[in-house]
Amino acid sequence: MLPDVAFAQDLISRHGSPLYVYDLNAVAERARALKAELPDDAQVYYSFKANPLPALARELRLNGCRAEITSEGELASALEAGFPAAEMMFGGPGKTAKELNEMIHAGIRFFSCESFPDVQKVSTAAKSAGVDVNILLRVNPPDAPDARMAMTGIESQFGLDEEQWIEQAVIIQAGWPRVTVRGIHVYFGTQVATREALVENTLRALQSAERLEAATGLQFQIVNAGGGFPWPYASDGEAPDFTGLKQGIEEARKAVSLGNRVVLWFESGRHLVAGSGTLLTTVVEVKRSRAKHFVILDTGIHHLGGMTGLGRIPRFAVTFKNLTPEPGDADAPPFVADLVGPLCSPLDSLARSAKLPNMRAGNLLAVPNVGAYGLTASLIGFLSHPAPMEVAFRGDQVVETWQWKTGHAKQ
Ligand SMILES: Cc1ncc(COP(=O)(O)O)c(C=O)c1O
Repeated sequence: MLPDVAFAQDLISRHGSPLYVYDLNAVAERARALKAELPDDAQVYYSFKANPLPALARELRLNGCRAEITSEGELASALEAGFPAAEMMFGGPGKTAKELNEMIHAGIRFFSCESFPDVQKVSTAAKSAGVDVNILLRVNPPDAPDARMAMTGIESQFGLDEEQWIEQAVIIQAGWPRVTVRGIHVYFGTQVATREALVENTLRALQSAERLEAATGLQFQIVNAGGGFPWPYASDGEAPDFTGLKQGIEEARKAVSLGNRVVLWFESGRHLVAGSGTLLTTVVEVKRSRAKHFVILDTGIHHLGGMTGLGRIPRFAVTFKNLTPEPGDADAPPFVADLVGPLCSPLDSLARSAKLPNMRAGNLLAVPNVGAYGLTASLIGFLSHPAPMEVAFRGDQVVETWQWKTGHAKQ
């Protein structure tokens, strides 16, 4: 949620501009609301990739979420936020032996495995550490989901096609040393827009598990049905109404033989934290080049929206609210401008040809809904500007401040 103007100004005077601010009450509220829309026995995993800031993650832990991590850095954040390693899930493609040894050493016992060699690597690491571990087989089911960025039902580097797991079911039946297969993991895609699509995806995950049980003769205990719970990115708005989601999922469970035997896990990043975050930025200069205006900000794609490769370019859609308009600005005619950052690249543009109210140097602007895929999903190292401070607040109190550090450390 946006902080109020006086509080935002106070934070800027204390911590500088640009500044990421996060409302911890909004994080707690979202976690509680999402859990209330899922079956009572479901587990919600927080996907650290959305935002590894320990202050946010801690709030999610305190509100009943577990940690889904994919790297050593995310492990460090999750431990800092107080998550017990034994309840974390480590996943992602291309796991290395070094990472796996580190995860096992840290106490992680749940892995999502993306292929046969991936399971083998987990088994080798568990054997050499002398511990038992649990895995979920990450499955790419045959059908494509209704998601903005589909990750199943297509050719994909994520997971293994359901057909391939089934063709080699004998290997799964034979098992791997120190490994127990607990179930499957399906991540259909992100920004699944409707309750109906979320229910449909959960049903597909359960059906896929049913087919794999039939092929392998195993009995699963867990189906991680992914999630893809939506939230607007860097623009106004909230999530669609999920009323009835829980009932829909319970009905999906009844439609499959294993539905009431398995525990459903869900993973969520953006839905849990996006709404908590606001980027505060200051207009450095407004200038004109021929027929065009440029509003130059002290932030850019190194702090927001660097995920061009992931199709998450916020261009055209970013909402900027002017928190400090000057007297008379409201009467000035709107003008059309590009909002650009301080990087030496024309790519450093947060909005193109945006119709703006009057803006002047010194105005403080706010970009809403950037608590997920903001700073750490951006080109934070490009041009070596220091990272903005990140402030977690509750009400009108600052709870914690953090700063991401980049730069070369001589070895
Ligand atoms: C496997 C997996 N889990 C969870 C997520 C988190 O997605 P979201 O932030 O949309 O909830 C992603 C995002 O790409 C993912 O790939």
